[in-house]
Amino acid sequence: MSILLRFITAVPLLLLFSLSADAVGSAGTLAISSGADTVCGISFRMLPRTVLCVNISESASTNSPYLLLPNVSVDSVSAGTSLFCALKSCRRVFFCENGDPVNRMRVYMGSWSLSDLTVGETQVAALDTSAHRIRWWRKEGVFPSSVHGQYSSLTSGNDVTCAITTKGRVNCWGPLANAMQDAFSGSTMISIVAGHLHMCGLDISGFVICQGSNSSGQSFAPHGFPFEFTGFALGSNHTCAIKQPRGTAVCWGGPKGAHLYTPVNLTSFEFLVAGGTLTCGLMSKSYGVVCWESDWSKSSVRTVLLRILPGICVSDRDECKCGIYPESRKLCAGTGVVCQRCYLIPLPSELEKIGKVWKVEVAVGTIGYGISVCGVVYIMWFVFCKKKVHIDNQIRREIAPAVAISTISSGSSNSESDTNEELFHLPSTDNGRLVSSRRMRMPQTLELHRVPSTLNSDNGSQLE
Ligand SMILES: *[C@@H]1O[C@H](CO)[C@@H](O)[C@H](O)[C@H]1NC(C)=O
Ligand SMILES: *[C@@H]1O[C@H](CO)[C@@H](O)[C@H](O)[C@H]1NC(C)=O
Ligand SMILES: *[C@@H]1O[C@H](CO)[C@@H](O)[C@H](O)[C@H]1NC(C)=O
Ligand SMILES: *[C@@H]1O[C@H](CO)[C@@H](O)[C@H](O)[C@H]1NC(C)=O
Ligand SMILES: *[C@@H]1O[C@H](CO)[C@@H](O)[C@H](O)[C@H]1NC(C)=O
Repeated sequence: MSILLRFITAVPLLLLFSLSADAVGSAGTLAISSGADTVCGISFRMLPRTVLCVNISESASTNSPYLLLPNVSVDSVSAGTSLFCALKSCRRVFFCENGDPVNRMRVYMGSWSLSDLTVGETQVAALDTSAHRIRWWRKEGVFPSSVHGQYSSLTSGNDVTCAITTKGRVNCWGPLANAMQDAFSGSTMISIVAGHLHMCGLDISGFVICQGSNSSGQSFAPHGFPFEFTGFALGSNHTCAIKQPRGTAVCWGGPKGAHLYTPVNLTSFEFLVAGGTLTCGLMSKSYGVVCWESDWSKSSVRTVLLRILPGICVSDRDECKCGIYPESRKLCAGTGVVCQRCYLIPLPSELEKIGKVWKVEVAVGTIGYGISVCGVVYIMWFVFCKKKVHIDNQIRREIAPAVAISTISSGSSNSESDTNEELFHLPSTDNGRLVSSRRMRMPQTLELHRVPSTLNSDNGSQLE
């Protein structure tokens, strides 16, 4: 009887514990601008909350990190191929840098509060949290200025921006909107992340769905168990995800085609980001950033930044529906907390479906976890192992779209007006040489470390 009860409670638990972070939208505390070979992250325990960048080009004379925008406190960063954007802590101002020496830095200001800033090839899109709408900048005549509605999982690729409606439908805008929207029309999605010309996400049953270009097998999604793959990061023609139960990174697509590969063995990640052929992940133990190329070359794996925030600092603890990271206040230097990502709980009708899938998979033995006794034992083992991993790693949680939407809708309603929007250049002291004037070398230098291919998460901290 008690076993039965345990089993009944085990099914939802199983779903709770098997989840990991999705790179929600593309805004976060780490971004790759592939065109500029630059990786930027928001460092923790610092005020103002500054952006630390590193030029990861092999030919760069120095790979030591520098501060972008000294003295500006930043909330989140996001990047497209050539454009890098940073949303200020007030969430009403953002800066974009595009490598063009004259218009290097632009500032957008408004009276609205923004979130989920995402950058595509040309366009910048964000959720306007006070007015329930998506707004675009650098529209190039192919994106609307704004679209009303409640959306989550805003993401931007080449010539397309997509988001998920409250009903789990994928809506898209831009030249590739119809193609992408049609491709997802049969799926009820809970997350989507855009690459160059493809998008991947989880459907409501927790399975990976990829649509769009498959020129390098980047859309050939692995078929694991529900919620096995989460936290997607998509580059120009490869895809990476966080694989449960250990939170390791796996990738597919790219120069070597559709095969699944593990770029860094035995290391748990909080989240992944990708740009061009590069993917970077924030390691769970050390909060250091490891990057690798999509060509599977072991030599490309290296640590590029240390001490990066595991998530955006929010000032209001109530915004965290699912608890906060340990040492959260210290991470945010006393000015906020980092929310744990929420667990995803599928609809009750889906639970039954997932249960069936599980039984089939257990019976057929498609998942090689070395357990072949019976379904109940398998699932219970899994749950308890999961639980252990969860406790050990303070595993990531996932923002449920419903929660994300309710967070957005709880934003204060203020009468925003488009005329408040301004666009101007940052003052520059030496014309067109903002690059050097804005780049302040960090006092301590950081050498790029090669990560041993069998890096063990238990001694991941030795990287530091
Ligand atoms: C990175 O370094 C390379 C090689 O030195 C250089 O060509 C490139 O412009 C640098 N990128 C940035 C953003 O400074
Ligand atoms: C940053 O702020 C400090 C203290 O207000 C000031 O001394 C410093 O010059 C500022 N740095 C820049 C690059 O603006
Ligand atoms: C994508 O590419 C892979 C290999 O290149 C192929 O096996 C697969 O059928 C393709 N299509 C989809 C939808 O995955
Ligand atoms: C994959 O992306 C890279 C970089 O954008 C590009 O050079 C290459 O041609 C792409 N390969 C395919 C098969 O699309
Ligand atoms: C990771 O482990 C697998 C299986 O042991 C191995 O095949 C693969 O080469 C390893 N990957 C790296 C990057 O060491």
